[in-house]
Amino acid sequence: MLLALGAVLTLSLMCSTQATNLNLRSLAQKQGLNIGAAVLTGVLQKEPTYRRVLAREFNMLTPENHMKFKPLHPERDRYDFAPADVLVDFAKENDMQVRGHTLVWHHSLPEWLEKGEWTREELMAILQEHIYTVVERYRGQVVEWDVVNEAIADDASLRKSIWLNVIGSDYIEMAFRWAHEADPTVKLFYNDYGSEGINSKSDAIYALVKSLRDRHVPIDGVGLQMHVRADKPPSAEKVAANMKRLGELGLEVHITEMDVKIEHATGTLEEKLTAQANVYRDMMQVCLTAENCDTFVLWGFTDLHSWIPRYLKQPDSPLIFDKFYNPKPAYDALVEVLN
Ligand code: G3I
Repeated sequence: MLLALGAVLTLSLMCSTQATNLNLRSLAQKQGLNIGAAVLTGVLQKEPTYRRVLAREFNMLTPENHMKFKPLHPERDRYDFAPADVLVDFAKENDMQVRGHTLVWHHSLPEWLEKGEWTREELMAILQEHIYTVVERYRGQVVEWDVVNEAIADDASLRKSIWLNVIGSDYIEMAFRWAHEADPTVKLFYNDYGSEGINSKSDAIYALVKSLRDRHVPIDGVGLQMHVRADKPPSAEKVAANMKRLGELGLEVHITEMDVKIEHATGTLEEKLTAQANVYRDMMQVCLTAENCDTFVLWGFTDLHSWIPRYLKQPDSPLIFDKFYNPKPAYDALVEVLN
């Protein structure tokens, strides 16, 4: 019964958006904005509605997992590009851009790499080869890469990882230089969470990217992931101030992984969904107002496939379409602000 109702609502949504041509993608395009979503290859292959809504609403996509080190480079001498290629091909067929995510991270590393006992020179050679291979493979197909992801820990120190422990802090600079050598045209980003506004972590990221810029390391921008909560919304003023100071370094700022948890919020479901919509609206408004923000990417688009219930095992509804692909108040809020 519930499923039938969901299907009817989905159908009516499809008819109404086709009739009015009111969708995020066309509205964003008019504003010169890239609007994107993280995408799961397996789901894309299996679900026609997922594909349809994705292509209708977004002009950019990020592989949620299949461009990470472990899936792309499962053995030392073997790469597996097939699942990432599915997404790149889909993007091409639907005239969408691709954000590459991510070349260097402490997480999602293959066992052969994590368990190996590498010298500094060996690990540098592995990282350089990985970056050259992957960035060259997607040259001209990926418009921007998250080169380094989450290198600053929550206490604002450099995060302990195999890269920091074995190579030292200059692995960050090396990664940007190698990515630029592999594709001088692709934009290169540092990406992190919990650093959207002004706090000790975003101060540390600011200092890091300033030092990269001062030393002419090729970096184009900073990704603000924006995994946030409706009951603790980020301050629009602080996010705007952070974007502004990064802009003064000559850097772009993109929202790269937005979702808004509602389960901690109090009130009725309607109130929680309104609070969630307000966060999406405010952050889109901040991005549209900033001179250096032209990309707004969500970490998925339907609550059916959010990483939060699947990976964190926390029931929640953090995205802009519900489990039946019906638009939520958050979707309407984005339409409203883009309109
Ligand atoms: O697809 C395999 C499946 O074949 C296998 O049987 C199963 C067994 O564990 O794993 C499946 O892959 C999982 C994948 O999610 C798809 O569900 C991986 O184990 C799991 O590690 C992976 O989690 C991802 C996580 O990053 C770690 O890479 C989440 O989907 C993804 O949303 C999350 O994304 C991160 C960003 O990259 C960086 N910023 C934070 C964000 C949220 O944590």
